[in-house]
Order: sequence, then structure tokens, then C-alpha cells
Amino acid sequence: MKNLIVYYSFEGNTAFVAEELKELLEAKGEPADLYEIKAKKNPPEKGFLKFATGGFYALTQKDPGIDPVEIDINSYDKVFIGMPIWASNPPGAIKAFIKQAAPVGKDCVLIACSGGGNSGKTFEKVRGYLQGNTVVKTLDIAAAKAHPETVKEKLESVI
Ligand SMILES: Cc1cc2nc3c(=O)[nH]c(=O)nc-3n(C[C@H](O)[C@H](O)[C@H](O)COP(=O)(O)O)c2cc1C
Repeated sequence: MKNLIVYYSFEGNTAFVAEELKELLEAKGEPADLYEIKAKKNPPEKGFLKFATGGFYALTQKDPGIDPVEIDINSYDKVFIGMPIWASNPPGAIKAFIKQAAPVGKDCVLIACSGGGNSGKTFEKVRGYLQGNTVVKTLDIAAAKAHPETVKEKLESVI
């Protein structure tokens, strides 16, 4: 079983979760490649504008421009997709990645990192972008970096 863990992370929580997932899979003898989606346009790092801009980007699903995708997603058996929740939605970088990577017939697991544990419309939206694939599991993880010791246990439910 060849696993891909692809993620976008603005503040490090989803990156942390992705690394924990890689460790967990590899401890079970399942290799996993990590791929970070890098957005060209991100919200400001602090203040009101961080939430206003990020929220606007997510609500409009604006394409922030991403680095060219350099992996063949269709060479993997299972694809884990990690993302932060912005204004109850996924960042536009996730949509842009799926469009460029063009997965077909893959089993996908969606992992949403949030502040409060409610992913809102996120899974519904991402399922729509993944037509032709199967979303086999979804998971919300709240405040990952504030409670790092709980993350692996939560991830057990999706592997
Ligand atoms: C622009 C913006 C909007 C956010 N909106 C929500 C939200 O609607 N619900 C929520 O629970 N957390 C929200 N958060 C918190 C993030 O989802 C949470 O901190 C997440 O773990 C961030 O992941 P990251 O560190 O990988 O970027 C928001 C954060 C930002 C920056």
C-alpha cells in the first residue's frame, strides 16, 4: 500500500498532523510520502486582516496560485489530504491542488484542522472537487499543536 499525505498549512497545525500521520503509518509498516502544497498568496500573519483575508479567500474559494505539482498522485493507492479550516471552508489552495493533480479512482481521507473542531462545509466542498474518487473517511482535529499528545490517537481512526 503506497500512501500519499498531501497538505496545506498556514500556521503549522496541519503540518504537524501530517508528520504525525507519516510516523504512525510507517510504524505500521506502511510507507508514506509527504507533500506540502505551497500557496503563492497567503493571508497576513497577524491581526484582524489575517481572519478577514483568509476568510474571504476561503468563502470565495479563490485560487491563491500554488507551486507546480511535482508528484503523480495517481501512482498512490491512498491519498490523505490535510487542510486548515478557514471560515468553515477549506483554503482555495486545496481546490487548486486537486485541479492540478487530477486524481482519479483514488481512496481519499480528508483531515481538517480547526480551532474549534467543526469543519463546517469543508468536507462537502472537497468531496465535490474529488468527483471520480472515493472519500473513505473524514476527521476533524481541533487545536492540534495545543494538544500534540492527542493527535496520533485521533489519527488511528482514519488509517
Ligand atoms: C483565516 C482563518 C480562519 C479560520 N476560521 C476558522 C473557523 O471557521 N473555525 C475554526 O474552528 N477555526 C478556524 N480557524 C482556526 C484554524 O482552522 C486552526 O488554527 C487550524 O489548526 C490552522 O491550521 P494550520 O496551522 O495548519 O494553518 C481559522 C484560522 C484562520 C487563519
